[in-house]
Amino acid sequence: MSAKIIDGKKIAEQIRQEIAQQTEQLKTSRGITPGLAVVLVGNNPASEVYVRNKQKACEKIGLLSELHRFPEDASQDLLLKKISELNHDDKIHGILVQLPLPPHINEQSILQSIRPEKDVDGFHPVNMGKLAQGEPGFVPCTPLGIREMLLRENIPIQGQHVVIVGRSNIVGKPLALLLMQKSEKGNATVTVCHSRTKNLADITRQADILVAAIGRAQFITRDMVRPGAVVIDVGVNRIEDAYSPKGYRLVGDVDFDAVKEIASAITPVPGGVGPMTITMLLNNTLQAATQMINN
Ligand SMILES: NC(=O)c1ccc[n+]([C@@H]2O[C@H](COP(=O)([O-])OP(=O)(O)OC[C@H]3O[C@@H](n4cnc5c(N)ncnc54)[C@H](OP(=O)(O)O)[C@@H]3O)[C@@H](O)[C@H]2O)c1
Repeated sequence: MSAKIIDGKKIAEQIRQEIAQQTEQLKTSRGITPGLAVVLVGNNPASEVYVRNKQKACEKIGLLSELHRFPEDASQDLLLKKISELNHDDKIHGILVQLPLPPHINEQSILQSIRPEKDVDGFHPVNMGKLAQGEPGFVPCTPLGIREMLLRENIPIQGQHVVIVGRSNIVGKPLALLLMQKSEKGNATVTVCHSRTKNLADITRQADILVAAIGRAQFITRDMVRPGAVVIDVGVNRIEDAYSPKGYRLVGDVDFDAVKEIASAITPVPGGVGPMTITMLLNNTLQAATQMINN
């Protein structure tokens, strides 16, 4: 058996067209262009790429996007002042602070200073709390993108055993909360594993849906996967590749070539979860603008 390769790029493109149409409607009916402000501190090369991609995606579908750059040594007070300004700026509906921040900045203080109604990354404790309680709020983009991908691929979630390897606040933990929601888009039985989990492979082999969010190249090997399972690979890792002009290539947390032989469906890296994450940021920004009109 060879798995169905889930084309995250194609699903993301379809959703982006839907968002573009809704954005256009909002502009014509209410004269409002949803606006996203991105705060970038320092010049971490990976962050530069992520921010550029987010901005390009916004522009392509007609959202306003603003970049606010700060030097590596910017003070916490300066960042808080900027966020306060953006919180009160009527043309900005979503605020995103690109992580990681330099070590002298308290990440939690910065994230908590964003108005929860503009917290399109869903990292504010108010939104995390709402997610934990099953109340509507902004959900972090990667978990939201994974659920949307499963739904659009008609992969059942209800009653399925989802095993997530990784418990970070941006992927593993919110994904567990989302898929265990008492809702027809949830209702999964969720197990969360991490670096202290005993007998990891025994647990991953029980998964109907296995999600790898670890950050270790090709960590999930074929023997860790039950034949017929759905495998979602969140990881993005660079490995050396003498044949690539850059000297490296990107791989996921799953040993793709081996696991695709026994899984029923699998996401590739790149072209799987990544495009869905940015798409959910666009979705959340549109939702933020729509909710502000209704409030
Ligand atoms: N495609 C996308 O859109 C997207 C978005 C976000 C992240 N990512 C990628 O996804 C990966 C994970 O990101 P993250 O931010 O969640 O990473 P993270 O904060 O570093 O968390 C990694 C998790 O993996 C667990 N882990 C590490 N080694 C393990 C092991 N040997 N066995 C079992 N669990 C282990 C850690 O356990 P402990 O908690 O015990 O340390 C932790 O919970 C990264 O490659 C990142 O680049 C991709």
